[in-house]
Amino acid sequence: MSQKQEYKIRLVTKEFLNSDTCYLGFECPGIASSAIPGQFVNISAGTVFLKRPFGIASVDKANGIFYIGVKIVGKGTSEIAKFEPGLTADCLGPLGNGFDFEGYDNIILTGGGTGVFPINFAYETLTSLGKNVTVCEGFRNASQVILNKPGYVLTTDSGDTGIKGTVIAGLDTLEIKDPSNTLVCCVGPIPMMKAVGAWAGGKNMKCLVSMEQRMACGAGICLCCTVKVKDDGPDGYKNVRCCKEGPVFDSREVVW
Ligand SMILES: Cc1cc2nc3c(=O)[nH]c(=O)nc-3n(C[C@H](O)[C@H](O)[C@H](O)COP(=O)(O)OP(=O)(O)OC[C@H]3O[C@@H](n4cnc5c(N)ncnc54)[C@H](O)[C@@H]3O)c2cc1C
Ligand code: FES
Repeated sequence: MSQKQEYKIRLVTKEFLNSDTCYLGFECPGIASSAIPGQFVNISAGTVFLKRPFGIASVDKANGIFYIGVKIVGKGTSEIAKFEPGLTADCLGPLGNGFDFEGYDNIILTGGGTGVFPINFAYETLTSLGKNVTVCEGFRNASQVILNKPGYVLTTDSGDTGIKGTVIAGLDTLEIKDPSNTLVCCVGPIPMMKAVGAWAGGKNMKCLVSMEQRMACGAGICLCCTVKVKDDGPDGYKNVRCCKEGPVFDSREVVW
């Protein structure tokens, strides 16, 4: 795992993917060269108190740029969405454990909402390694669809594009030939990750999920980002830090 550091990053590209979501490229060779899929960065949002966490969506190692996607939901994200090229921000990263794809030739990537950003980084990394990758993405409706590439299985709740239903309807269309050599990875809302974990478990496949708890320090100090994971102790569970021990967990370990 790469070592996190505090950086001064500079915005170099920005585009809006839809009315409330933008895609930002920041110059930072340290993060671009060391980040792995599933890791995240904690970025200062103007004068807003506390940095905000975002999954790394892509890296351009040659030019020292990393990308994030930001959906505007409150003060911090609206400040970041107002950034213009040339602006600098403070950034801690890369943070967290990231996905471990070791030992699997077939990977099913599943994303929903802003989870499609880390899934994009995983897709780019795995295809460059020559792995057999299938991507299934779910959105509420056609206007919410972002970063969807040809060949991806697409579902929408509304059915106005893609398969009508949740990502499970999309996953059900896949033919699983070698479950023990197939890893499922999922980033999205909690109900989606729980359902995808159960779907994978029902087919004897391991499923890694990336939890997006509310965070403050992002560095394992404040203990505000805990996730309950199964444990042999008297309580049957223990609290671990999403930012430090996660954000990626085996879905079977999470107390949903
Ligand atoms: C590891 C990790 C990776 C993330 N990756 C992305 C990403 O790639 N793109 C992206 O747009 N967002 C991502 N998020 C969520 C993002 O960090 C929050 O949306 C952001 O911090 C909200 O800040 P705000 O000041 O705009 O909103 P606030 O004013 O703090 O909150 C506004 C609303 O957003 C909700 N909210 C805040 N934080 C979270 C959270 N962590 N999860 C769910 N809801 C939240 C609040 O409950 C509230 O309803 C990620 C979060 C984590 C922990
Ligand atoms: S955000 Fe502070 S310990 Fe995780």
